[in-house]
Amino acid sequence: MPFRFRDNVEKMQGYTPGFQPTEADAIKINTNENPYPPSPKVFEALANLDSEALRRYPPVRGDAFRRTAAKVHGIDPEMIVCGNGGDELLTILMRCCCDEKRPLAYPIPSYSLYPVLAEIQKAPTIEIPWGENYSIPKELYQTDAALTILCNPNAPTGTLVSMDEVRQLAQAVEGVLMIDEAYVDFSDHNCLPLVKEFDNVLILRSMSKGYSLAGMRFGYAMGSRRIAEAMFKVKDSYNVNMATQAAAAAALSDQVYFRRIINKIITERERLITALREIGFVVPPSQTNFVLAQIKEPAARQVYEKLIQRHIYVRYFEKEGLDDKLRITVGAPLQTDALLGALREIINGLLQD
Ligand SMILES: Cc1ncc(COP(=O)(O)O)c(C=O)c1O
Repeated sequence: MPFRFRDNVEKMQGYTPGFQPTEADAIKINTNENPYPPSPKVFEALANLDSEALRRYPPVRGDAFRRTAAKVHGIDPEMIVCGNGGDELLTILMRCCCDEKRPLAYPIPSYSLYPVLAEIQKAPTIEIPWGENYSIPKELYQTDAALTILCNPNAPTGTLVSMDEVRQLAQAVEGVLMIDEAYVDFSDHNCLPLVKEFDNVLILRSMSKGYSLAGMRFGYAMGSRRIAEAMFKVKDSYNVNMATQAAAAAALSDQVYFRRIINKIITERERLITALREIGFVVPPSQTNFVLAQIKEPAARQVYEKLIQRHIYVRYFEKEGLDDKLRITVGAPLQTDALLGALREIINGLLQD
């Protein structure tokens, strides 16, 4: 008999990450990475790592990072849990909360990793389409979910829900509410104050986007001590390596550099949106470092494929409601220029065919 995995693992598709091109001239605007390098303080911190630090296991809870984050965010360090990217923290929380009898709920469309993690836990999912103008859908207030995830601002729509609305959701749900703020560095507001009001709320932050550390893999969660302690029980003891802990603390401590980069990306985002609308795309306002651009004619898939031929990589989701759209990361100005030039030529060409 050939060996088999658990039934749900045999059946599942797994998450599809964004394509990683290898061409030297590739314009990679498909996974919402930051076009700018991390703070110079990150490189200093890495250069200053001594051999003792690498010989030993790293601090279990990331104490130096937690002290820095506690100062920056004005919260108790005991409320902070560090992980190898936001994705690992999503996995840990899902393992804490969900199983066959304990569902996961979230509005759709949203981050396509959520159902994959639920599937690993064999947890049922309650998927509810966003309400009007991407408000929180009423049904989400009344589920029996053990865990509700609100991606805010949401991916891939780029939309943001007000803190008042999220507060009402936190009051209404009986289980844990995770607010996935992976993209909040580019938004007008965040929901961090809610972790002081509710012990069932956990905020997720990623350092892959605003802090340019996607390659280091670091994220952190902030919530009540009760949630943090559950996550400590479930996570690997030494989950985040020493170099990553040092790099993340250095990046977070350099708020001046961070603000400068964020402002550049927000300025570029607005230029990209205006130009895409001029070309004929329907582009809603974005509160993230990407835009979701809709095109009916020619088909989005055709445009996506033609862009690849020119080594320009954006994200296309073959899914109902998204298959007429391209998700485009806000890059550096030269990348935007190359994208816009290519789009004009491609669209004109396809419309003439
Ligand atoms: C909505 C959302 N949440 C969380 C993450 C996790 O990011 P990371 O694991 O790089 O911190 C991502 C990454 O793309 C994301 O899009």
